[in-house]
Amino acid sequence: MILVTGATGNFGKSAIDFLLKKGISSTNIVALVRDEEKATDLKSKGVALRIGDYDNYNSLLNAFIGIEKLLFVSGSDVFNREAQHQNVVKAAKASGVKHIVYTSFQGKNETESSPLWLVAQSHLLTETWLKESGMDYTILKNTLYMDFVPAFLGDKVLETGIIYLPAGNGKVGAVLRSEMAEATANILTSSHHAGKTYRFTNQEAFSYQEIAQQLSEITGKTINYISPTAEEYAQTLTGYGVPADFIGLFSSFAVAQANGELEMVGSDLSQILGRKLTSVKTFLNQVYSPSNN
Ligand SMILES: NC(=O)c1ccc[n+]([C@@H]2O[C@H](COP(=O)([O-])OP(=O)(O)OC[C@H]3O[C@@H](n4cnc5c(N)ncnc54)[C@H](OP(=O)(O)O)[C@@H]3O)[C@@H](O)[C@H]2O)c1
Repeated sequence: MILVTGATGNFGKSAIDFLLKKGISSTNIVALVRDEEKATDLKSKGVALRIGDYDNYNSLLNAFIGIEKLLFVSGSDVFNREAQHQNVVKAAKASGVKHIVYTSFQGKNETESSPLWLVAQSHLLTETWLKESGMDYTILKNTLYMDFVPAFLGDKVLETGIIYLPAGNGKVGAVLRSEMAEATANILTSSHHAGKTYRFTNQEAFSYQEIAQQLSEITGKTINYISPTAEEYAQTLTGYGVPADFIGLFSSFAVAQANGELEMVGSDLSQILGRKLTSVKTFLNQVYSPSNN
């Protein structure tokens, strides 16, 4: 029996769909959800629901009973994630889970000096707890979702013709979330992954300058990339009324990229999928090509 946490979110849902596509019976899949009403689609696919919250240890303890493999999708509440993840690992161990597959994070600089430390810290602690737990574990060090690139570009990028981000000439090896979820389903349904750490990145990294060029080609409009300092960026966005939390998050990813912390590339993911990964150019075409809109 495989239990997927975060099953009402994008990654968990996608992983479940790939498990079903691979022929795993819905009767062998369990979804951990906080809110049953958000899971009607899962229910209609025949996937059993168990109610649990990372904040509530006992709910997890009950939910994990009889589970052999657990896909632990990291929580979205970065401020409370440390205690939440500790609950998940402890409850899994106490309930007799044999193998946890965990969606972690990767950066070249995984120390306090990284602008992404707030995001990274709880992931790195969770990796340590898993390694010390005595359960089998597989750690997926996931790069940035390519799906988030349009959010970094802003919804008016084609109107303004400007990409405005403090990412300098730094690159990111971002990958489509669905490709990571598909590879995760492959891992959950095959053996020899215990004790392994995989780096899920693309085979090529890209900069926002390259994105500006590609967007110009795709749309026929001139798109320029401007890289302000982080301070200028924060001042400008504050002037437009963007909430400080959003500015902080976008800025920390952009500055980490400028520092070269997200430029890693590799073949772990393409090997597990058995094919080449979707390039950013293909993705931009899908999202921005006038013929697709
Ligand atoms: N690599 C990247 O670029 C990137 C970007 C963003 C996030 N992430 C990480 O990857 C994870 C999966 O991404 P995603 O796109 O699927 O995120 P998402 O759509 O926001 O889904 C997050 C899932 O986690 C569940 N969750 C949150 N807090 C929980 C709690 N206290 N107890 C139980 N479940 C809880 C949510 O449940 P509800 O539906 O009830 O809210 C939801 O199902 C995120 O949670 C985050 O850790 C990675």
